Amino acid sequence: MAITLMHRRSNFQRLPTKTAAFLSPSPPKSSSFLSFSTSFLLLVLLTIWSLSIILSSSFQICFSSRKLDSYCISSGALSHSLRHLIIPPSNLSRTFKPITANNEISEAIKLVEEKLHIMRKWASTNNNINCSGKGIFVYDLPSKFNKDLIAQCNKLLPWTDLCEFLVNDGIGLPIPRLGPGWYRTHQYSLEPIFHSRVLNHRCRVSDPAQARLFYVPFYAGLDVLRWHFANASISDKDKLSNELVKWLETRPEWTRRSGRDHMFVLGKISWDFRRVGDGPWGSNFLSLPEMQSPFKFLIERQPWELNEIGIPHPTHFHPHSDDDIAAWQARVASSVRGKLVSFVGAARPESTESIRSVLIKQCTTAAAAAACRFVDCGGGRCGDPGDVMTTFMESEFCLQPPGDSPTRKSVFDGLVAGCIPVIFNPFTAYYQYPWHLPEDYQKYSVYVDEEEVRTGKVDVMERLRAVEPDKRKEMRRYIIYELMPGLLYGDAGSQFRRFRDSFGIIMDSMIEMTSKLE
Ligand SMILES: *[C@@H]1O[C@H](CO)[C@@H](O)[C@H](O)[C@H]1NC(C)=O
Ligand SMILES: *[C@@H]1O[C@H](CO)[C@@H](O)[C@H](O)[C@H]1NC(C)=O
Ligand SMILES: *[C@@H]1O[C@H](CO)[C@@H](O)[C@H](O)[C@H]1NC(C)=O
Repeated sequence: MAITLMHRRSNFQRLPTKTAAFLSPSPPKSSSFLSFSTSFLLLVLLTIWSLSIILSSSFQICFSSRKLDSYCISSGALSHSLRHLIIPPSNLSRTFKPITANNEISEAIKLVEEKLHIMRKWASTNNNINCSGKGIFVYDLPSKFNKDLIAQCNKLLPWTDLCEFLVNDGIGLPIPRLGPGWYRTHQYSLEPIFHSRVLNHRCRVSDPAQARLFYVPFYAGLDVLRWHFANASISDKDKLSNELVKWLETRPEWTRRSGRDHMFVLGKISWDFRRVGDGPWGSNFLSLPEMQSPFKFLIERQPWELNEIGIPHPTHFHPHSDDDIAAWQARVASSVRGKLVSFVGAARPESTESIRSVLIKQCTTAAAAAACRFVDCGGGRCGDPGDVMTTFMESEFCLQPPGDSPTRKSVFDGLVAGCIPVIFNPFTAYYQYPWHLPEDYQKYSVYVDEEEVRTGKVDVMERLRAVEPDKRKEMRRYIIYELMPGLLYGDAGSQFRRFRDSFGIIMDSMIEMTSKLE
């Protein structure tokens, strides 16, 4: 996968003005954090700024992948949220120098960081929310929007049957070898997992009049998945999304705040729902004007959307209780890590941009072989999660180069095994998960610039050998004890007191945020 930024003067996409008015959710304290004079100054600045953006260009980041020649995402909708520019950018952009080589790219990256900065402020630290007056209403949608898609599990993909992965409320069949809480979970199964969980939320109400937050259990990812490799027309691909929006428009709860107090969890990456024109890939679900206001949670986000928040890919571990988590923490903390590095993945020989071949070469030289384990996943050889997890548990560092898109489920599998991720592209993790990973990425990962790997300027093995043992130990402690619980999705009936899982972080933050909406 490669990221390039294009400058499209002729093709500026703007959302209809009607949409613009409710595109950005207000941050909780937006009314109090501006005094009159600063608001005025800001208004002037913004006018100048938005003019310059509209006049100069829109930004577009393109990814080239195995499945598509390239797919691009435009930040044409940026100007609607410019009032947030008052918040100082973080210093990440200075770190990722090669990406900022060009002014336009650096401008686009700065905007990504500003959005993340705002999103981080929305994360709730209160894990003991009083549900009174803060109910969650879960729509009981017609079954074609969710359950019927699960029932088609043997037909979603042409070459495989997904049924065994979607049993057990979406978490799949157990893996006894890894202990309690381990399942053969499919990477695209977050929709049923989250849905089963939210139905058991202690703040759930059955009367929408008592709710402040509305959950729409549309399995849009499973919907789009079944068209990826089928000879389907655009109207096939968009049919269910359009019907869902029509269905919602009959509900007064949806129209009251234009959906701003509604949330969706989608189990695929954002690009799958943002088809470019009449292109061959994906649906246009997230491009629909009606979909701009609600909060969307995805395993990979569109980097410029403020209300599209990245959340961890589901791993194979779905604890039921605090004790399951604590037992796993003890197990990975004491695991003997005989390998310095491992890479579990496949080369991308057809992609000249991919750094995977370079990494595989560095890992498998005679000098490196004792310290590095390469598990070749070509031809579906990594089907056994037990083997993959064992490899991660025996390694200090796990290489996480981008694949078909910037993010990787493997980042989370590795973290859950206590393996320190080596990240090559900031869009793999740092620009994705504002509620689940801290801004200071050095606490839990090592960053090696992709371009330096591609041009042979850096030997990754050398770079990792140079990380002091004390530093490794501290990173691992942080990953296991501070990060890991928050990256997991408990099983459907799980209850946690000592820990807060990924689901808990998302729901606490959403409950607090929507309870403050006017
Ligand atoms: C929750 O909030 C309500 C109303 O704000 C209050 O009456 C109630 O005592 C609170 N419950 C707890 C357990 O704090
Ligand atoms: C795809 O479907 C269209 C319309 O049904 C048909 O004309 C075309 O030949 C099909 N293409 C393939 C590759 O099957
Ligand atoms: C950003 O800079 C501040 C002050 O220079 C520093 O304390 C902080 O750790 C930096 N953050 C990151 C993510 O590097």
